[in-house]
Amino acid sequence: MGRSLFISFEGIDGCGKSTQIRLLNEYLKGKGYDVLLTREPGGSVISEKIRAMLLDKANSDMTDVTEALLYAAARDQLVNTVIIPALEEGKIVLCDRFVDSSEAYQGFGRRLGSEYILDINRRILDHLPDITFYFKLTPEEAQRRISNMKRDTDRLEEAGISFFERTNEGFNTIAERDSDRIVTLNAGDTIENIHQKITDIVDDYLNR
Ligand code: TMP
Repeated sequence: MGRSLFISFEGIDGCGKSTQIRLLNEYLKGKGYDVLLTREPGGSVISEKIRAMLLDKANSDMTDVTEALLYAAARDQLVNTVIIPALEEGKIVLCDRFVDSSEAYQGFGRRLGSEYILDINRRILDHLPDITFYFKLTPEEAQRRISNMKRDTDRLEEAGISFFERTNEGFNTIAERDSDRIVTLNAGDTIENIHQKITDIVDDYLNR
């Protein structure tokens, strides 16, 4: 059985984390590790149904508290039915977003506050990732990247620049506070450089 490891990836929309998750997944699989790739919200049947509800533009009247509770519900389902079992089997779990996203988007972006978000996610805090990679980008750069994407925006991406600015500030605050867990990466760096930094840190952890 391999050494289990839980890694999450965080940042505002358009920060480039999906590319890096894919590259790390390929890298670790190439080295023979058993890797589980998952995402939030989603990653299990029930959580994907909640995701569809959360991102549906038709749900424009969703209250901020409903939104926060749905993210927490999707997370509880994913952690208990997918992430914990995988870690118990000695797998490496790569998760696209985790609880920091709720604190940044709902706590700061929607202004519900960190205390409320951490409170409704209290049980999840016993299962925090071993490493979190935070892709730091200016909101202006992120907004530019989003508008260049050739796809429809989702409900969250329609929320506007000031929401993203608050969310961005939230991520920066969380990354500074939890710097023992969160590794801040310059998302403006090249894909190759970022990938190199990530693999150095992950290799180091696995070889400890
Ligand atoms: P994605 O685009 O990275 O798949 O994430 C979907 C959207 O959900 C994205 O706009 C960020 C948002 N989100 C939250 O607002 N709170 C959360 O807790 C999570 C996990 C995601």
